[in-house]
This record gives sequence, structure tokens and C-alpha cells, in this order.
Amino acid sequence: MKNEETYYTLFDLALSGENKGCDFFNALSATCDGYPEIAAFWKKMAADESDHISLLEELRASLTAEQLSLPTDPSMLWKARKVQQFSVKDTLEKIKTLDDAYERAHELESSEINTVYTFIMEALVSAEQRRSFLKAEIKNHQNKLVLFSETFGDARWRKNIVLKNSQKQLRGFVLIIIGLLCGGIATSEYLMKP
Ligand SMILES: [Fe+2]
Repeated sequence: MKNEETYYTLFDLALSGENKGCDFFNALSATCDGYPEIAAFWKKMAADESDHISLLEELRASLTAEQLSLPTDPSMLWKARKVQQFSVKDTLEKIKTLDDAYERAHELESSEINTVYTFIMEALVSAEQRRSFLKAEIKNHQNKLVLFSETFGDARWRKNIVLKNSQKQLRGFVLIIIGLLCGGIATSEYLMKP
């Protein structure tokens, strides 16, 4: 049986976290229908996560079973497990405006997800040049969000942009109310019939 505290486990957890990131950014892109440039921005963030997945998979494939069975840093395993608590569905349900989307994206990018990724690259990529390149890529990825306000607009502007999923929720709510009112009227008309 595999020891749970090894690089095997850390890779599994890191890949799961990166997949969550990729799904989240793709889902954000789908909520920005009327804003093609912002939708494209989230798509690019998702593509970066997809690259992180490929790089982790490539690295894992290049390692021996012996290397992957080595015990890893327990604090990194803890961090990687913490990322698993992030729920794409729950997070999306709470997003109403572009500012909510930006803040949640910011939280995800400042979470342990990138610390774990960088740790794996630092610990297991042997070539110094390659390690530096991968670290620079992560910084570049995070910087895109830092520059979001400059590129698109500040918090005040973002708060006024209501995203599609929340418009859908609002429409659904209105339809339920209309349904209830119509149902109520129809029922009372039926009851009042002689
Ligand atoms: Fe990532």
C-alpha cells in the first residue's frame, strides 16, 4: 500500500487543485457573455491552469516510482488538502457581480494552490534554468489579476457589472414568483367558482 504522505499524494492533490482553478476560470468566462474581452481574460487564466496541469503531469511522468514514493513536506500536504475545500459550484453561486468574480479569483490565486505548485517545481525540477522559467510563469500568471483593474476597470466599475449566472438566478426567482402568483390567482378563481 502507498504511504499517503508522499509525492504521489502531493501530485494528486496539486492536480486536483489546478483542475478546480481551470474549471473556475472557464465558468467565469461563461458568465461574461456581454463582455468578450473579460470573457477572453478568464479563458486565458483557465488556459494557464491547463498549462500548469500539463507541466505537473509531465514532471510526474519523468519521475521514478522511487522518487514519487519519497516522503514529502507535511506542511505542503496540509496546504494542498486545504485547496480541496474550494468548491467551484458553491463559489459561483455566490458570485453576483464582476467584482465578486475578481475577488474570488484573487483569493484563489493567493491561496495555497500556487505555493504547492511552486514547491513541487522547486523540489523536483533538476535544471536551474527550467525552475526559474516555471517560477517566472507563475508570477506572470498571478500578475495578470494584479493588472486587472488597470486593464478593465476598478472595484466601483466592477460592482456595477452583473454577471450572467446571477441574472439567470434573478430571472428564475422572478419566474417562480410569477408562477406562484398565477397559481394563487388560478386557485382562488377555481375556489370561487360556483
Ligand atoms: Fe495554477
